[in-house]
Amino acid sequence: MKINTTELVISAVRRSQYPEDKKAEFLLVGRSNVGKSSFINSIIERRNYARTSSKPGKTQTLNFYNVNNDFYLVDVPGYGYASVSKERQQKFGMMIEEYLTNRENLKEVFLLIDFRHKPTNDDLLMYNFLKYYDLSVTIILTKVDKIGRTLREKQLQLIKDTLNIKEEDKYILFSSTTKLGKNDVTSIIDKIVYPNED
Ligand code: GTP
Ligand code: MG
Repeated sequence: MKINTTELVISAVRRSQYPEDKKAEFLLVGRSNVGKSSFINSIIERRNYARTSSKPGKTQTLNFYNVNNDFYLVDVPGYGYASVSKERQQKFGMMIEEYLTNRENLKEVFLLIDFRHKPTNDDLLMYNFLKYYDLSVTIILTKVDKIGRTLREKQLQLIKDTLNIKEEDKYILFSSTTKLGKNDVTSIIDKIVYPNED
């Protein structure tokens, strides 16, 4: 995939504001601070186009990034951080649920999980929620650069066991810093958006 253009077309808080065209959409979900906005920046090859922060709770709306005029990457607020108020988390949760449960354009969900830690209960709930709605999910294990190579196999096993990842489930070891896994992600997008090219 060659990135020609990227444009943030709308920061939505409700369904009526979503784009009305029928382009394929790819959604990023995951705990606050897991690296969703950084993931988008790596894919679109921009440094800080999707705004990132070391403080959780940076993204507060559903942000639709039009890429190459061919598809959207959809960045959403993260879940599960105590420093973000309960009320705000509930609002974010409702926004994401409203999107997830009735969006024909949604082709693939990238569920981001921090590779350094055991998945949280919220991660597990989200994973099960996505499967319940029969959405196509790829788990993106983020910040892999922060774990030494010798520990990676063990950490991967812990995550697989905690989430109960099955043989047929898709996952990718990823790092926004080193671009590990980036080609695997773009090939998933390519197959859906440009099915007739190789
Ligand atoms: P919210 O918008 O709060 O939900 O967070 P987010 O999931 O969008 O996270 P964001 O992309 O803002 O990244 C959070 C922090 O993690 C930032 O300080 C990033 O620089 C850092 N970060 C993200 N991805 C990676 C990675 O692959 N490796 C390393 N080392 N740091 C990362
Ligand atoms: Mg963000």
